[in-house]
Amino acid sequence: MEEDDGNELGAMFDSPEAKCRFLRDVVKTFVLAGKDTTSSALTWLFWFLAANPECERRVYEVTALRGADECNDDDTAGDESDDRYEELKQMHYLHAAIAETMRLYPPVPMASRVAADDDVLPDGTVVRAEWFADYSAYAMGRMPGLWGQDCREFRPERWLDNGGQFMAVDAARHPVFHAGPRSCLLKEMSYVQMKAVAATVVRRFAVEVVPAAAADAPPQHEMAVTLRMKDGLRVLLTRRRGVSSGIGHLGHVTDGQDANDNLAGLSGHE
Ligand code: HEM
Repeated sequence: MEEDDGNELGAMFDSPEAKCRFLRDVVKTFVLAGKDTTSSALTWLFWFLAANPECERRVYEVTALRGADECNDDDTAGDESDDRYEELKQMHYLHAAIAETMRLYPPVPMASRVAADDDVLPDGTVVRAEWFADYSAYAMGRMPGLWGQDCREFRPERWLDNGGQFMAVDAARHPVFHAGPRSCLLKEMSYVQMKAVAATVVRRFAVEVVPAAAADAPPQHEMAVTLRMKDGLRVLLTRRRGVSSGIGHLGHVTDGQDANDNLAGLSGHE
């Protein structure tokens, strides 16, 4: 790294080593916080869509109607990128499907804090200094008291108002991105990213889970820092008629009609 410590960033640190450590930690946080979370959510999303063909049909209709394509990284394509961002924003049903996926399988299933001092929670619970205070977004997403008797069902519609617009809920009820001052810094950006990937794949390919997904038999999960699908998700990709060109790293897909060669692996982890 160049030692241009005359600038504002350099002035924040006592030594070049301290600056390097800080930048390394920022990069590590972004890689760890950003990669496994979104890939976990997308893996479960594709499983839910395969297990719920009516939801998959609605996501496909939304993406085909809006004409979403890959996000364009080309800086010169400013207006076009703005259009695509607007298209993604209008995909309310897809947004709801992702929110519903993360309600049932939150990428960060547990969060912990250590109390700095003795405290009393709003419900009267006493917490002593240095005690751990944990909450489980996974358990909260499955509580009838918070989500109703159908809380175990995948129903993206619960996130939509009568006009089909996405309705956010209080972060304290749905702390998938945490709540309060240390919430996820990239919540909005990660929705844009997940919607762009899901829309691009669904619009071009029918995604079939192998063996076939059954709504009443979800795959096993592994509780780690992020919630993983045990053994990942094997899928068969079949190109939809009339859609040209391939995609990047979701397996190798051929132009042929024989879908048997198109097995790909989706996984919440490496
Ligand atoms: C589905 C996607 C994501 C979910 C569910 C998620 C969830 C969370 C949660 C629960 C926290 C709080 C963790 C804690 O303090 O215990 C957090 C913090 C954070 N997330 Fe995300 N995240 C996602 C995507 C991303 C992405 C894509 C990035 C960046 C590229 C990112 C960057 C961060 C950072 C920097 C923090 C620390 C914020 C702070 O401590 O002030 N996250 N995230």
